Amino acid sequence: MIYIKTAEEIEGMRKACDLVSRTLGEVASWVKPGITTRKLDNVAREFILDNGGKPACLGYHGFPGTLCIEVNETVVHGFPSGYALREGDIIGTDCVVELNGFHGDSCYTFTVGKVDEKTLDLLRTTKESLYKGISVALPGKRIGDISNTIQTYCEKAGYNVVREMCGHGIGKNMHEDPEVPNYGRRGIGPILKPGMCIAIEPMINLGGKKVVFEENGWECRTRDRKPSAHFEHTILITEGDPEILTTFNYIDESLAKTAVETLNR
Ligand code: MF3
Ligand code: CO
Repeated sequence: MIYIKTAEEIEGMRKACDLVSRTLGEVASWVKPGITTRKLDNVAREFILDNGGKPACLGYHGFPGTLCIEVNETVVHGFPSGYALREGDIIGTDCVVELNGFHGDSCYTFTVGKVDEKTLDLLRTTKESLYKGISVALPGKRIGDISNTIQTYCEKAGYNVVREMCGHGIGKNMHEDPEVPNYGRRGIGPILKPGMCIAIEPMINLGGKKVVFEENGWECRTRDRKPSAHFEHTILITEGDPEILTTFNYIDESLAKTAVETLNR
C-alpha cells in the first residue's frame, strides 16, 4: 500500500532527511587516501547518535554498518572494513537515518584523489540521471516515467542499469511501497500523488549490467569488476515540482573546503 503523508509526517521526513544529508556532509570531509571504510562508518554512526538519530541500516536484517560502503566495483551493501582508500578509488556511502520515527535515505559516490576520466563521466551521468528522474516526479505521472527517464539517460551515455535493486517508498519504514526501478517503460506503474515520499537511487555500471552477490548475501559487485556509481535522494511528491528532501549541499560545502586545504598545502 502506498502511504500518503500528512503535513505533520512530512515535517518529520524533512528533519530525518536533513540529518542524513548532514551526516554525508560529515563523511565527505573524511574521504581521502589512507582512510579506512570502518573509520567512515564510525564517523557516520557517531554523528547520527550525537544528533539524536538512529543509524537505521545498522542491524537491519543483520547488516553490520551505519553506511553501505561501495568501493569501485561494489554496487551496493558493502560492509565497512579495514580497507584503506587509495588514490583513484571511487566510494559510494549509502546511509539511512531514523529520526523521531521517520527515515531519510541518501547516497553519494565520492572520488578519492585523482580518478580516471571514464569513471568521472560515469559519476556525472549517474548523478545527472537522478535529477532527470526527479524532474519527472510530478503528480499524475507514473513510477515508470521516472524509471524510463533514468534508463534512457544512462543508456544513451553508454552505461548500464543494475536491475537487481530499486528505489522505494520511504517513511515510518525504510522500505515502503512502491518500488522505484531504474529501468522500465514510460506510463506504467503506480500513479504519483502529492504526499508520497520516495527514494530514487540509480545504480549504474560502466560495463555490463550483470552483478554477483558475495556469500554473505549482502555485498553486491559488478560481474566484470568494472566500476559502478550510486546516487540517491529522498523526495516528496507535491502539487507542483517535487521537493527534494535530502540535499548534497553539505557534501558540496565539505568538498569545497577540502579542495581549498589541498591547494594551500
Ligand atoms: N539505500 C539502501 C536501500 O534503500 C539502504 C539500505 S541498506 C540496508 O536499500 F543495509 F539497510 F539494507
Ligand atoms: Co534507498
